[in-house]
Amino acid sequence: MAVRELEVYARLALDVVAAEGSELVLADGRRVLDLYGGHCVNTLGAADEEVAGAFGEQWRRLSFVTNLLDHPPREAFVEALGANLPPGEWRVFLGNSGAEANENALKAALGATSRERVVCFEGAFHGRTAAAAAISDVARSGFPRDPFELTRLPWGDGAAARAAIDDTVAAVVLEPIQSMAGVRVPPDGFLGELRAACDASGAVLIFDEVQTGNGRTGRPFAAQTLGVTPDVLVTAKGAAGGLPIGITVLSAALAAELPGGILGSTFGGGPSVLAAACVVQRRIGEPAFARHVREVSAALGEAALRGPVREVRGAGLLLGAVLDLGVDAGGVRGALLEHGILVGTSNDQSVLRLTPPLTLTLEEAARLGDALESIDGAA
Ligand SMILES: Cc1ncc(COP(=O)(O)O)c(C=O)c1O
Repeated sequence: MAVRELEVYARLALDVVAAEGSELVLADGRRVLDLYGGHCVNTLGAADEEVAGAFGEQWRRLSFVTNLLDHPPREAFVEALGANLPPGEWRVFLGNSGAEANENALKAALGATSRERVVCFEGAFHGRTAAAAAISDVARSGFPRDPFELTRLPWGDGAAARAAIDDTVAAVVLEPIQSMAGVRVPPDGFLGELRAACDASGAVLIFDEVQTGNGRTGRPFAAQTLGVTPDVLVTAKGAAGGLPIGITVLSAALAAELPGGILGSTFGGGPSVLAAACVVQRRIGEPAFARHVREVSAALGEAALRGPVREVRGAGLLLGAVLDLGVDAGGVRGALLEHGILVGTSNDQSVLRLTPPLTLTLEEAARLGDALESIDGAA
């Protein structure tokens, strides 16, 4: 065949043909418990009826319309999102992906402050486009140079942050819990120190909540779970339950300083995606839903602390399972797959990531413990 897809991803040998709730269905009829959740995307599990209904109905009514026109799903979505944001006056810009939402956050901070330096952190991942790759700790960004001046600090080092964040800094950008790095929770007080340093210097504090947002940590956003409010909150992945979306939420004060003409998108804010995203925001905002996430988090954390796992860290359903010394996460993932369970790895070879649908049941969570026990020593 003359045309093939470029080989970018190390694909797993799973012949997936369908999914229901937290389970993948394979071509031969076997089922795999998906504790990876499409990498924090399947917030409400696969094939959620309410999302299907809202999306389908909107598609038939008004599938897509240019951003030159307003439409009811946009208003409904902004209202539903607003109910889940930390207290404050916010302005929302809608795009298509996490990387794009981060680019827009950085553009806004650089444009509004007229400064040229960005502070970011070792271990961070923010996406693959030029600015998002520059603030990510990746071996190769793919671009010949960074689009702005950069200071990359050790994660969790308050003294280094205090020294670096001065009035030359446009933005300080971080994942409130670093996910790809191996679910690294910030040390106590670190986010508060960043908040104070930004307040003192006039730098814009940006939280990349692409993974930590949308109910994942047991509150709508990690800003609430960790008790620090940024100036810009970025989210994507699970915000539309499986459809592409990127959301940049700016404080009204910052938005007022934004130069005109720097933001825009063809698809961002389209009605069908927002009809689905509205269902997600409403559901994650329900107190019973958040309670469920916290309950299942406790159960999954307990189940994960078996077999080759020596520590579980993280929040809600963004958990890192730290393996015994010398045990490789890739090997454990392979062994768990043999037991019908899919988990994620991370950039730390000793850490597995658990990012299941937030609708995971207690019974499903318990299955991980049994599987870990039975692979102990074999992985
Ligand atoms: C924290 C974080 N930010 C940004 C991104 C980029 O999102 P996208 O792949 O939608 O561009 C990712 C993707 O994994 C991510 O984990």
